[in-house]
Amino acid sequence: METAKAIAVRRSTRAYKPEQIKDQELNEIVKAAKLAPIARGAVENVHLTVIQNQALIRSITEAAQKAAGTDKVSLNYGAPTVIIVSGKALGGLEIANAACITENMLLTAADLGLGSVFVWGAISVTKDQKEVIASLGLPEGFEPIAAAAVGYPAEAITGEREPRPLSLNVIK
Ligand SMILES: Cc1cc2nc3c(=O)[nH]c(=O)nc-3n(C[C@H](O)[C@H](O)[C@H](O)COP(=O)(O)O)c2cc1C
Repeated sequence: METAKAIAVRRSTRAYKPEQIKDQELNEIVKAAKLAPIARGAVENVHLTVIQNQALIRSITEAAQKAAGTDKVSLNYGAPTVIIVSGKALGGLEIANAACITENMLLTAADLGLGSVFVWGAISVTKDQKEVIASLGLPEGFEPIAAAAVGYPAEAITGEREPRPLSLNVIK
């Protein structure tokens, strides 16, 4: 798929088939994460966690829903794979890194015909919870920032979308 097409096809998917994605698909997605731009090229500031353990995904979602006081928050929205991007605190660069890495994963998922969604809420409300952090097995000094949830969409994703009317000015 062309890059422009993958960008136009990508959309947030919040209903999935339970079937796990293939290892080859996961490898493509992780490879795309590893090809994302990273501030100062400092790869040592980023850590990826692939979670395909459904019990762990459920327990983090439960913790997030409890913390947020709503069942609208989810770590995966039913997707069987979640890739969490963690970073060391870098005055905001860690968030930019996580966004670049996550978007690369979402676009690669679209290219593979998979559904995906950017996950921030469930992570932001649980990132200070010791049990959640411990369950992720992160190296010292890292905190989870964002995630891509990925899986086979419950309904086939078809069609390229129209660009949104973002505010824009052009200076020539
Ligand atoms: C920084 C960021 C955080 C987001 N966090 C969540 C989230 O926690 N849960 C969720 O369902 N969607 C989340 N989204 C997805 C947005 O809601 C979604 O991208 C937006 O509504 C546009 O829809 P689209 O992705 O289909 O184009 C997030 C997106 C971004 C860029």
